[in-house]
Amino acid sequence: MDDVLLYGNESEESDKPPSCKPRPVRPWRVAVVANVRGEGTIPGSGPEDAGAEFDKMETIQAIQAAIQSDGHHTVFIPADINLPNNLRDVVPDICFNISEGLGGDGREAQAPALFEMMHIPYTASRVTANAIALDKTLTKRIWRDCGLPVAPFQEFSTGYEQIDPTLRYPMFVKPAREGTGMGMGTQSICYNSRQLRERVHWIIQKYNQPALVEEYLSGREFTVGILGRTDAAGFSLHPEYYQSDGFHRMPVLEVDNDNSITPGVYGHDAKTLVVGEAGVPDFICPAHISASFSRTLQNLAIRGHQAVGALDVSRIDFRCDGEGKPFLLEINSLPGLSPGFSDLCVIANAESVSYRDLILEILYLGASRFGLVEKAIDNQPEIEISLPMPGVKSHRTARVQSRQSLSLRARTQLR
Ligand SMILES: Nc1ncnc2c1ncn2[C@@H]1O[C@H](COP(=O)(O)OP(=O)(O)OP(=O)(O)O)[C@@H](O)[C@H]1O
Ligand SMILES: [Mg+2]
Repeated sequence: MDDVLLYGNESEESDKPPSCKPRPVRPWRVAVVANVRGEGTIPGSGPEDAGAEFDKMETIQAIQAAIQSDGHHTVFIPADINLPNNLRDVVPDICFNISEGLGGDGREAQAPALFEMMHIPYTASRVTANAIALDKTLTKRIWRDCGLPVAPFQEFSTGYEQIDPTLRYPMFVKPAREGTGMGMGTQSICYNSRQLRERVHWIIQKYNQPALVEEYLSGREFTVGILGRTDAAGFSLHPEYYQSDGFHRMPVLEVDNDNSITPGVYGHDAKTLVVGEAGVPDFICPAHISASFSRTLQNLAIRGHQAVGALDVSRIDFRCDGEGKPFLLEINSLPGLSPGFSDLCVIANAESVSYRDLILEILYLGASRFGLVEKAIDNQPEIEISLPMPGVKSHRTARVQSRQSLSLRARTQLR
């Protein structure tokens, strides 16, 4: 428990009449589980940018403040090797998970796997989706199989494999399982086999993992935030966010890399700059694109999110080819939540969704999957049940809408 920071806000349960909004039965003890920069060690001998995706303490505190403002108690637990013991000590009702994990091929799935093993509810995607999303090659194979547009690609494990003769230069080389633009910059664009081999070997050696080679997409770059699930409105503090399919279509963000420190590439150096600093890309949200193109990107993003089994929240990156055709690059099943900085927060801000609302939506959607939220009556369409009618042989259908039946449904069907 030594390195667990407590930010308690014990408050009395209110005796207000039931609200039409979904409500937890009581205030929750929420553990924000994260890896924080500069705290803890990463096992093994990683590259110097290992842990670049880790969060700042201010991000954890901002998430805690948002959750506490809804009446819950919060605690920060580092996602390190002491996580199992600390979870046992804290006994959270739910974990708000933003942990990147510590090394290995499925590190973003480490904490969720532990939550599952310990039967602790948690937010956002589950184990398999987090592991798949971290693996860009695997993600692209699934998307290709689903008929979603991805740039032609090849994965290199040794660097000595024969280069697929159908791939066209220039090609783009990146680590298969990193984020935050790690290992990516203008040198990632290769114009011939000599450059390609060199870069592939550099990635394999430096990041100790396969290199993913894709055809270079020279067009505009967009990123699309996803929030929701088919039954999201029933558990949301803002049911008006969600369309009939249960998803909230956030405005498309364009990342214009023309004047960035890494021109043409939203690489690691560009990702560490704050708006206003020299060399930062231009962020345009909503992007200056037609309504129909925006809709196309949003719908492709939802299909990409569903194809890998992501849940409740994600961010999907796109790049267009020279003709303006969009291709899915990758999915971030644990998108950055650094207020005012991370792409998803910039997107939410552009549509006047406050940071607090964004965090609480993710929390409520996660909690509802474990029956921690009583479904809102207002947001619930009538449901049909079959009842045996006395004296009648056949079953009759009755329409019911009672708090008791709805909350029971929430508890039993949404795990
Ligand atoms: N095939 C490609 N063609 C052109 N540019 C590419 C391609 N793949 C990646 N890029 C550039 O590199 C950037 C980072 O790539 P990608 O999104 O795959 O990595 P990431 O590090 O996982 O990003 P994130 O920080 O979003 O997790 C992209 O935003 C884009 O600018
Ligand atoms: Mg990306």
